[in-house]
Amino acid sequence: MKIALGVTGGVAAYKAAELVRRLQQEKLDVQVVMTRSAREFITPLTFAALTGKKVITEMFGADDAAPANVESAIEHIAVAQRIDLLLVAPATADILGQFAHGIAGDFLSTLYLATKAPVVVAPAMNVNMWEHPATQENLKTLRARGVHVVDPEEGYLACGMTGAGRLAATEAIVEKVCGVLGLRHDLEGQTVLVTAGPTREDIDPVRFLTNRSSGKMGYALAEAASRRGARVVLISGPTDLPVPEGVDWVPVRTTEEMRNAVRERAREAQVVIMAAAVSDYRPAAAQSQKLKRGDDRLTLELEPTPDILAELGREKGSRILVGFAAETDRLAENARGKLARKGADMIVANDVTQEGAGFDTDTNIVTLFLRDGREVPLPKLSKFDVANRILDQVLQLRQR
Ligand code: C5P
Repeated sequence: MKIALGVTGGVAAYKAAELVRRLQQEKLDVQVVMTRSAREFITPLTFAALTGKKVITEMFGADDAAPANVESAIEHIAVAQRIDLLLVAPATADILGQFAHGIAGDFLSTLYLATKAPVVVAPAMNVNMWEHPATQENLKTLRARGVHVVDPEEGYLACGMTGAGRLAATEAIVEKVCGVLGLRHDLEGQTVLVTAGPTREDIDPVRFLTNRSSGKMGYALAEAASRRGARVVLISGPTDLPVPEGVDWVPVRTTEEMRNAVRERAREAQVVIMAAAVSDYRPAAAQSQKLKRGDDRLTLELEPTPDILAELGREKGSRILVGFAAETDRLAENARGKLARKGADMIVANDVTQEGAGFDTDTNIVTLFLRDGREVPLPKLSKFDVANRILDQVLQLRQR
């Protein structure tokens, strides 16, 4: 996987060299981007030698001598699209301020705005700068936007003061990066069953009832769990999505088929995540012949489908059970109701009327409602990030 490492101008910049080495040991392909002030502390040559790649230092032109050209002027877009993650270590108070306020003053701050990849920052600065309300406000803004922060450590600082502000240990930064990329094998030995997509309930041989589910959330969960070392069974209604590598894929069509597949395969799973938008009703009788057009009103009689999640909830054992709740109103109330009614350990609730949430988007805005009463609201994140946050909670529940 490819990451960009932004190095900004602090005494801790020299530690970024060691960090590059450790990231490479994790098989990450590192492109270093340096701010102008970082180059006062350490030369690009060090990073070029370590990565075997030209270090990006300027927005326009590869170095001060070279004239601006089209390739370098649009390079930030190319890098932004290429990377799986943007890491900034050390991150100065200045760069946090630029990120928080959307100021695209140089290559690194422009890259932050241009990329859709997850962002990790490891701040390092003088203790007073760290504790300043301006810095803390900026961090709050960034956290709310889904930026991952590796907090600095307490200790002796280069300025002679003691307190918080020392760059986090290299291992802590590497751990966070690998965690966000889903490269930690913390689900090794577990079987995770995920349902995804819509179901189709036949009305007649050519028509069916369905919904707007794309399957993206469930497929992201399957991919994330698989990357974290789990054996994954993905029971999927009809979607156009590619099947994640290494996943045991079980295609189904109707709620009844999904129910049978889930009941059969749940036995082998320690974790069941029902992300599918299962139909709650189906035509009471599917017609064997195509319904003909007529002048009278047509009434379609529907009957409830079996609630797969609630069925599993009744014979749950030690299994962790996660359900989804797509709501258009009274989110918390409905989610808490489902938690109890379905016997689930967690309900992932989203308000599908919100921009950037729900069906057929690449992002989601959810709140996790947990059996112990906790509520974990998450900012707008990619569905892959949401998947990893859900799996983090699942792991905590497993460890209890
Ligand atoms: O009650 P509601 O359909 O909103 O609940 C949503 C949750 O229940 C989802 O996790 C969905 O996969 C699951 N469900 C189910 N069987 C149904 C309907 C929903 O397992 N028939």
